[in-house]
Amino acid sequence: MLYIGVDLGTSAVKLLLMDEAGKILQIVSKEYPIEFPHPGWSQQAPADWWQGVCAGIPELLSGFDAAAVKGIGVGGQMHGLVVLDKAGQVLRPAILWNDGRTQKQVEYLNQVVGKEKLSQYTANIAFAGFTAPKLLWMRENEPELFARIDKIMLPKDYINYKLTGVHCTDYSDASGMLLLDVAHKCWSKEMLEICGLTEAQMPALFESADPVGTLTPAVAAALGLPQGVVVCAGAGDNAAAAVGCGAVGDSRCNISLGTSGTVFITSEKFGVDRANALHSFDHADGSYHLMGCILSAASCNKWWMDDVLKTQAYADEQAPITPEKLGENDVYFLPYLMGERSPHNDPAARGAFIGLRMDSTRADMTQAVLEGVAFAIKDCLEIAQKQGVAVTASTVCGGGAKSPLWRKIMANVLGITLQLPQTEQGPGYGGAMLAAVACGAYPDVKACAEKLVKIQGETRPDPALVEKYARRYAVWHKLYPALKPIYQEMEG
Ligand code: XUL
Repeated sequence: MLYIGVDLGTSAVKLLLMDEAGKILQIVSKEYPIEFPHPGWSQQAPADWWQGVCAGIPELLSGFDAAAVKGIGVGGQMHGLVVLDKAGQVLRPAILWNDGRTQKQVEYLNQVVGKEKLSQYTANIAFAGFTAPKLLWMRENEPELFARIDKIMLPKDYINYKLTGVHCTDYSDASGMLLLDVAHKCWSKEMLEICGLTEAQMPALFESADPVGTLTPAVAAALGLPQGVVVCAGAGDNAAAAVGCGAVGDSRCNISLGTSGTVFITSEKFGVDRANALHSFDHADGSYHLMGCILSAASCNKWWMDDVLKTQAYADEQAPITPEKLGENDVYFLPYLMGERSPHNDPAARGAFIGLRMDSTRADMTQAVLEGVAFAIKDCLEIAQKQGVAVTASTVCGGGAKSPLWRKIMANVLGITLQLPQTEQGPGYGGAMLAAVACGAYPDVKACAEKLVKIQGETRPDPALVEKYARRYAVWHKLYPALKPIYQEMEG
């Protein structure tokens, strides 16, 4: 039996074919564009995602027995607002997780409705990328389109809708809408009312490994798949990645270094970060998690390499960063290229290089980018640690995890052991695992993860380097508060 895992990312959709024993047989990736129609805004056409899936699946199956495919599971970029009219047509481009247009609506939710009430209704407060503020933005700025909304969904739900015709979502992804009562796993009546929505517009709720339907006959024929292929509810990409890296059950941590960077800490008990700086969401294994999300992680390095240095030779650029250079860099980088979510909740924040001198080199700046992202991840981890959550090790996934240098910097900045799973395809692998559970190949998500996820190596922190980085972090940590008034002035 074969399973297809889909990672509906921000720069591309990655599809993987997995057998029942967890072996990855094939990986296919289809890129699509992202629009920035206004500084700080970010949008994508759901049709591009679907086209990527439709082009990718036949390619994924080439050379394999399509008749053996039993299930599909999608892990998708979270929080994106997808709205459909009565005819099932997309009303406007999806507003993505890293879009910062909703500053005014976030302020209304957090200040007028109030953080306490929001936290009581949803276990979270408003952040610019969350879905509810985007709906308020639409109501205010696009009232005619808002009035035509028949169905609201998240990016991966759009793929499931196209595959099966079922309007549904799962708890992990729904948690990021600020419309779900996370503790009780139902839509919050108060939040729907605040946003002018009805429950009929919302997707049906499922656990991630629940089957939600089967492929429509037309889609099965178009994709070259047999009738009866089961589609599971899937998960937000971070929950799917956690599953794919074995971070299920209690007190496990997964760090993802993709376009965004996340720290994902699992918990069997529901809990809320007292300051609401971390998100308190449902997990794809039926339990809960705390998560910190920085909006630009591997994307900072990609921006620095591709757009600024105009090179694809990432390893060559990192080669001069020899072990004795670690913990010694006087150049600092703030990774807020799309504003920042955790912990600052500030769409006006911007990236910065600080500490440049005449003898600063290109390699120092490359190192600063890698270190700046690690420091920002530490900001998130520290919030959890200060509340007594003990994290001494974490798995790591995403494109950034492929760099041994970045893993070493990260392990020493965070002072924890980083474990590298056999595959860094977190969300896609997790999606395929959820599909396998939905098809009955494994009794539950935990059993599936215990059986399939293997660690290929680890990076341990070195106490002397941890101390050096602690001193650097103390300096770096003061930069954002110092720059904040200037960012506000730049924003006008
Ligand atoms: C998580 C978040 C990002 C996206 C990236 O809250 O916004 O990690 O899910 O795809």
